Amino acid sequence: MSDPSTATSPDVLRAHAEQQYAAELAALDVADDRPRPPSWRLSPWAVSLYVLGGQLPDGTAIEPKYIGSRRLVEIAIATLATDRALLLLGVPGTAKTWLGEHLAAAISGSSTLVVQGTAGTAEEALRYGWNYARLLADGPSRAAMVPSPVMRAMETGALVRVEELTRIPADVQDALISILSEKSLSVPELDEQVQAKPGFNVIATANNRDKGVNELSSALRRRVNTVVLPLPDTLEEEVEIVRGRVSAIGASLSLPPDLESLSEVQRVVQVFRELRSGVTTDRRTTVKSPTATLSTAEAISVLTNGVALAAHFGDGTVRAADVAAGLLGAVVKDPVQDRIVWQEYLETVVRDRREWNDLYRACRELG
Ligand SMILES: Nc1ncnc2c1ncn2[C@@H]1O[C@H](COP(=O)(O)OP(=O)(O)OP(=O)(O)O)[C@@H](O)[C@H]1O
Ligand SMILES: [Mg+2]
Repeated sequence: MSDPSTATSPDVLRAHAEQQYAAELAALDVADDRPRPPSWRLSPWAVSLYVLGGQLPDGTAIEPKYIGSRRLVEIAIATLATDRALLLLGVPGTAKTWLGEHLAAAISGSSTLVVQGTAGTAEEALRYGWNYARLLADGPSRAAMVPSPVMRAMETGALVRVEELTRIPADVQDALISILSEKSLSVPELDEQVQAKPGFNVIATANNRDKGVNELSSALRRRVNTVVLPLPDTLEEEVEIVRGRVSAIGASLSLPPDLESLSEVQRVVQVFRELRSGVTTDRRTTVKSPTATLSTAEAISVLTNGVALAAHFGDGTVRAADVAAGLLGAVVKDPVQDRIVWQEYLETVVRDRREWNDLYRACRELG
């Protein structure tokens, strides 16, 4: 895997996908001789190569961004080339945001047209607002308008991302309906219609686990293709995802973990998978599942914390003691119920694995 930190501008904490992978995108652009849909920077074939990774004929290595089903990625890309929007659905931490960002970067060359959905998202965030000082001084005009990211995407034929669509109140979500079906946005104040350029489309994400979210309105549901992103199929796949991300995040924080020391990844991922599925890997012992989701994203953060602890307070090698507190914090979200689940797992599963002795002791020491 190439070192992404070298491509990252040193003066920002996190570069956008199109900045971080600018070299890959440029190489794909040169190598790509397949037809590109209107306004697309790359052909669907090159976009899938960018997302799933591989090698170009000239030998340039393309790092895999999303690890999982090729078919799902192809369906997502094909959808964006039609007149239907794409909804990435899944439990927390299944790379919905991550995949959306990379798709926008590869297809439109920019992943920064984003609406972050919250309970407080208003229609202006999906349509347009006004610069009130100008509006009062000069009356309504294009110059007094503040276009939303959706409107800017329509005008430039780009992709816009709508994050956490189902957190947006249902009546505000409905502002997207006419935009998606008519591909135009009316501005009654100016007696104008903003018509979308070819290439415009929407990538929405939604989480099907969190409480307190709104339903996706059925009218909207009919205008999107839904792709459900699953949790990683196998232990090996999840270990690969976590290892890759922890190395990259470590490098960008100037804490390059030595890959040997990442053997702890395997254990953390196994603990997560066993607790999530309610049964041990050898299928012999059933365990209770905690209330927490225990997503891949959380495994990544437990290990990133471990890398920081080991780098600053240890010898750089991530050991059981460096991940124990993170594990406990990830599993025990409900102080009563989850603590019982964790204790039981510790005493019935972790204690019996002889080669996990260090982890057992480190967890016990935390109390
Ligand atoms: N299949 C996967 N391939 C590559 N990376 C993955 C995969 N699954 C999870 N990740 C990693 O997990 C991290 C979290 O992903 P992301 O924030 O996109 O999740 P999400 O589905 O948007 O979660 P939420 O519902 O909480 O918003 C990312 O760093 C991503 O790299
Ligand atoms: Mg997300």
